[in-house]
Amino acid sequence: MTPATKKRLPPALSGYLFFNATEIKNDPLAFYNRVWRQYGDIVYLPILPNYNFFLAAHPDYVEHMLSTHQERYGKPDIIKKPFGLLMGQGLVVSEGDYWLKHRRLMQPVFHQKYIEGFFSVMLSCTESLLQQFGKKPDGEVIDIANAMMPLTLKIAGLTLFSTDISDEESVFGKAFRTGFEFISYKMNNLPTAPMWAPTPRNVRFRQALQTLDDLVFDIINKRRQNPTDNHDLLSLLLAASYEVTGEGMTDKQLRDEVITLLVAGHETVSSALSWTWYILGQHLDISANLQNELQAVLNGSSLTYDKLSQLQYTRRIIDETLRLYPPAFGVPRVALEDDEVKGYFIPKGSIINMSQYIIHRHPEFWDNPEKFDPDHFLPEKVNRRPKLAYFPFGAGQRICIGKSFALMEATIILASIVQRFRLELVPQQQIEIDPTFTLRPKYGVKVKLWRRS
Ligand code: HEM
Repeated sequence: MTPATKKRLPPALSGYLFFNATEIKNDPLAFYNRVWRQYGDIVYLPILPNYNFFLAAHPDYVEHMLSTHQERYGKPDIIKKPFGLLMGQGLVVSEGDYWLKHRRLMQPVFHQKYIEGFFSVMLSCTESLLQQFGKKPDGEVIDIANAMMPLTLKIAGLTLFSTDISDEESVFGKAFRTGFEFISYKMNNLPTAPMWAPTPRNVRFRQALQTLDDLVFDIINKRRQNPTDNHDLLSLLLAASYEVTGEGMTDKQLRDEVITLLVAGHETVSSALSWTWYILGQHLDISANLQNELQAVLNGSSLTYDKLSQLQYTRRIIDETLRLYPPAFGVPRVALEDDEVKGYFIPKGSIINMSQYIIHRHPEFWDNPEKFDPDHFLPEKVNRRPKLAYFPFGAGQRICIGKSFALMEATIILASIVQRFRLELVPQQQIEIDPTFTLRPKYGVKVKLWRRS
């Protein structure tokens, strides 16, 4: 880096953000949108003296920070600390050699040959939801967003350790929800009471954490003593070993990865699908195209693994939902050293948020960016864009390990429900994005359910 360029910071918002905190907290997406339109594809957002924050909204920055120069960037404390409270040293928060060792150990477990084995669990969980739907009178109003969360949690619990934790009354489920809500609270409310303070919220969290630990360690112990032929992720993780030393994970390491996969793997898929239902309810032409594809490929019979790859329009609807409503709507990093990107100086210690929400709507890479159009994902259009104009699952070596799992799950749920039911959006309901954790619809998505003949 030359001294001349060293001081060329990106265009800066005037004044310290600390004083605009309410605007950011109330509507971060509108805030990002505003500063991006006003200042451009990289904006320096001073928060406090000596605490620098950048918004990056161009694929070149994503490529530099997540891929070609990823070693210069790490996970910031704003992510590591709250997530670490629940996930310990799991894959989402760990770094360096520890992360690499675990990623290498876990990557084979997410190979397509194992993911394929989860098809039937995903399908049967969806079918049991369809049976519940089938008991309702035609035209009954339900909150479909609300129905997605227990479904994806059920799939996560069963595929991970063959246990259904989606029941409202399940001890595991309750403790998990308390833990999950606590980290969401920690991330969205700064500052919060220190962990040692005996506030009611901290006490509830500690109790929930203890319950989760007891339950997960118990499952691990039982599995170690009596290995089963359960085909689940835990069995695969128990059998996995580091290629260099041949050793496997300790109980604590397994516990951290199991909780990590639960947290990372259920709400993301549920949020995405909730938006798909909203979109389909608004675009009856797209809904009809989807129905036609399902009819042509499945001809009234149940979905099978072999047919998944033929559901190309279904898959494009999912891709397009993840474009406009990316559940992880920003990937934050901290600069581990002074850096320079596209001529701009990024001082060591700066936090950079690479925003999928903005980049996925960038007019340089998307025609009609605000329009929901599954054809944005026709191969000829994909080939014309820079690869990282679209990165709902992140990029580089820390790309989401559950990507194939999530895409298969979303396809099964979407196809199976649409095949059997028509979902009619209830008019004039309030739909708002809640960006506090993943991008979920704040007040749910109400639909009328109609059986298809
Ligand atoms: C639509 C669904 C999903 C979306 C949009 C999503 C998104 C992401 C993103 C953006 C990252 C990268 C974060 C970063 O670089 O800071 C990530 C990482 C991760 N995801 Fe997902 N994810 C989804 C589903 C899943 C599922 C189903 C699982 C597990 C079964 C999972 C497990 C993980 C894990 C363990 C990581 C950390 C990987 C690492 O750092 O090595 N995700 N995900």
